[in-house]
Amino acid sequence: MEAPAPELGAKDIRVVRPVARLRGTPRLPGDKSISHRALLFALLADGESRISGASDGADVRSTAGAVANLGAEVRRLAELDGRVDYLVSSGGRTAVEQPSGVVDCGNSGTTTRLLAGILAGLPVTATLDGDDSLRRRPMGRVTVPLRQMGALIDGSADPEHLPLTITGRGRLAALDHATPVPSAQVKSAILLAGLAAEGRTRVREAVVTRDHTERMLRARGVAVTEATDSGGEHEVAIEGPAEVAAIDERVPADPSAAAFWLVGAAIHPDAELTLTGVSTNPTRRAIIDLLRRMGADIDERPHPASGPDGGEPVADLVVRSSRIRAIDLSPADVAAAIDEIPILCLAAAVARGRTRIRGAGELRHKESDRIAGIVAGLSTLGARIEADGDDLLIEGINGLTGSLTDSLGDHRLAMTFAVAGLIATGETAVAQAKSAAVSYPGFFDDLDRVSA
Ligand code: S3P
Repeated sequence: MEAPAPELGAKDIRVVRPVARLRGTPRLPGDKSISHRALLFALLADGESRISGASDGADVRSTAGAVANLGAEVRRLAELDGRVDYLVSSGGRTAVEQPSGVVDCGNSGTTTRLLAGILAGLPVTATLDGDDSLRRRPMGRVTVPLRQMGALIDGSADPEHLPLTITGRGRLAALDHATPVPSAQVKSAILLAGLAAEGRTRVREAVVTRDHTERMLRARGVAVTEATDSGGEHEVAIEGPAEVAAIDERVPADPSAAAFWLVGAAIHPDAELTLTGVSTNPTRRAIIDLLRRMGADIDERPHPASGPDGGEPVADLVVRSSRIRAIDLSPADVAAAIDEIPILCLAAAVARGRTRIRGAGELRHKESDRIAGIVAGLSTLGARIEADGDDLLIEGINGLTGSLTDSLGDHRLAMTFAVAGLIATGETAVAQAKSAAVSYPGFFDDLDRVSA
């Protein structure tokens, strides 16, 4: 293997070699989206909220830090295998304190955008900031509607990018907003601001996005209504002002983390992996159904859920080596599997036939430009993949060849290239591999465990 170029982060290279068999049960992290929301809603609720099995990835730690900075007491009760139990004590929205210094959102878009919606309705001034990747991501999609509701939002250099200073209002104006791009973060930001608004706040979206905010607010006593019109437009509405109650919640395993093993096992010649307690929420399960459409052998069994689970359907999944074929993904499929497209591209790279993924432009605005990153990384491994505007075209081939890939510091690209290394010949090196810990701190331990 060639010596890694220094700009690929020479100190943070992980080498993965092909393995003869994959067996076992990866220790999946708690769902990232649910973990963020459980912490943020605990800040808004007066009382104690216990959150069991939350993700202990860097993104959710950013949210926990922000919640503590805003005046709640956040205690880590126990840690195990990339999960953590939290106990959050808050005096509710009237007790939220002026944060000290900037609120550091790290690498996390969900922390930033949901917190922006919450801060818009609180009588405090807070500056949100984050790392270089987060500073590049578009924030106009939340700042524009939140300003319409009455929040003051200033960017020192640029009104659409971090750092942003938000001066909230105890009372906001309700809003009827049609989201220009399907985004659960935007929908959630507006609904959370709507908690502090007078009257009915509505968010309308052309494609239904993940609905954890809706489910979790309902579980905390907030009336959230949903309706789909004959044209397919989906509307979510809440009546403000509304209070959020403190409850305990158990976080299911993250289907977006499970996705790496669903693909890893399906494309491997001798594999059987079990994934336990995974959320099969209809707005998150698309990856399971898309892989089945590709011919993946995935069994789904009811999981004996223990304790409160925030109203999420949960299942155990068993995935085995499969002969997979190409697929055509619509823009709605992309929205439904937005975080799983990189790993799905790996499946397509070794599937029989030509895969077309249509309308994937949103991937350019994630932790990295994932269209550029996945095309570059998989091409390096010999895959036949190209971008055609906002579409991705992938011609499946028989195998991949190990090489040096760059995750661009993006957790989902790092894990995708590492999984590719399990089937590629020779050595696959992943630069900036530690970024996996943004969502899945135990990923490389699991990779060693299921390879053993
Ligand atoms: C998330 C929504 C999605 C997703 C992100 C988590 C959420 O982002 O990509 O990882 O928890 O609401 P967008 O809303 O920007 O599509």
